[in-house]
Amino acid sequence: MSFIVAIDGPAGSGKGTIAQIIANKLNFTNIDTGAMYRCVALYLLENNIELNNESEIINNLEKININIDENEKKVYMNDKDVTDKIRKPDVSKVVSQVSSVKEVRLKLIDLQRKMASGKNVVMEGRDITTVVFPNADIKIYLDARLDVRARRRYIEIVEKNKDIKYEDVLNNIIIRDKNDKEKEFGALKIANDATVIDTTYLNIEQVADKIISIIKMKMKG
Ligand code: DC
Repeated sequence: MSFIVAIDGPAGSGKGTIAQIIANKLNFTNIDTGAMYRCVALYLLENNIELNNESEIINNLEKININIDENEKKVYMNDKDVTDKIRKPDVSKVVSQVSSVKEVRLKLIDLQRKMASGKNVVMEGRDITTVVFPNADIKIYLDARLDVRARRRYIEIVEKNKDIKYEDVLNNIIIRDKNDKEKEFGALKIANDATVIDTTYLNIEQVADKIISIIKMKMKG
């Protein structure tokens, strides 16, 4: 048996934190697909691969192995713990561009479906409700006002003792929103049958509880 909760939304909409809370409360596996795109971006940066050279990116794809350890909450790329590295600004800056390459998407979509196989999962990203699991049991689209999303990301980074300017975080989100919504494959969009939740004025627990009640209702049949 497999029950799929698919959550999409832009950067800073709260989907990462909310997916984690839901997965913990319901004992589901949480799969953060953004982390997987970040691993590919990190690999390309570390190996000095020209990001405008699609064929070089494609040639390198088979060398990239990604594992998510759900219990330890760690992300591994080629057996190295990259949990913190993939959140750094240099990766955030290029990840959307990397995620626009069709072959990158095909590789990761395949991996995401394999990771979810036979399990109860909460999977979050940009194309989970539309491409990865268009027949998911539950489809949620989370959104929030741009400045609120940027403020959340800024606080998250500052809390990790990282020195960063709010304007830089805001600009990165503006650029990523544009790239994520306009890319040819796997663009961020709202599935027709998704429940849209605006989290601008809601706290994390309120949103998580709302989604959990939707899931429980569906599970009861
Ligand atoms: O959720 P995040 O900010 O960690 O995602 C990083 C980038 O990866 C984001 O800019 C878009 C891309 N992404 C994607 O294209 N498809 C997904 N399913 C998840 C993320």
